[in-house]
Amino acid sequence: MITIIAGTNRPASKTLTLANYYHNALNQRGISSEIISLAELPADFIASDLYGKRSEMFKPIQEKISASTKFLFVVPEYNGGFPGVLKTFIDGCTFPDSFYGKKAALTGISSGKYGNIRGIEHFTGICHYIHLHVMPLRLHIPTIDKEFDHHGNLFKEDTLRFVNQQIEQLIAF
Ligand SMILES: Cc1cc2nc3c(=O)[nH]c(=O)nc-3n(C[C@H](O)[C@H](O)[C@H](O)COP(=O)(O)O)c2cc1C
Repeated sequence: MITIIAGTNRPASKTLTLANYYHNALNQRGISSEIISLAELPADFIASDLYGKRSEMFKPIQEKISASTKFLFVVPEYNGGFPGVLKTFIDGCTFPDSFYGKKAALTGISSGKYGNIRGIEHFTGICHYIHLHVMPLRLHIPTIDKEFDHHGNLFKEDTLRFVNQQIEQLIAF
């Protein structure tokens, strides 16, 4: 089971569109996965689930994280970095059993030119700090608005080649 983290709570995000694409692509390969979208977090997460507190709403999310051994983070570029809500989510998850010794693949996306290069680099450092092993192939998908067809599927040859390579590597990781 691979847990796909859609790393923003923005409604109708491209991040969630891409997370759904990964979910279907894994499914087609016979690999089960589930998506945790940060849009599912309690609205008052910073009050309800930080610094030792745990809300009823977050409990099932924490249980899924604790039970997972492999993650795929889809991380949009916000102001030249990764979204604050993603760091808050990591801070709210129990330490160390949420991520310690587990594995993750990272994909950065942006509407601009850079595909969240800086955000993914920064997030990689945080993953290393919490002992989450990051797969060396990290993807960056710029101009994400031009990447999906009307069904939310990727269609560009280059993007598909890298995404398929990443998926195969993640399965084997
Ligand atoms: C708060 C915020 C900051 C953003 N900052 C950047 C940025 O620095 N560079 C960029 O290319 N796109 C930026 N964007 C645009 C996102 O990359 C764009 O919305 C893209 O679709 C991925 O984000 P999404 O998953 O929220 O859709 C920003 C969007 C938001 C909401």
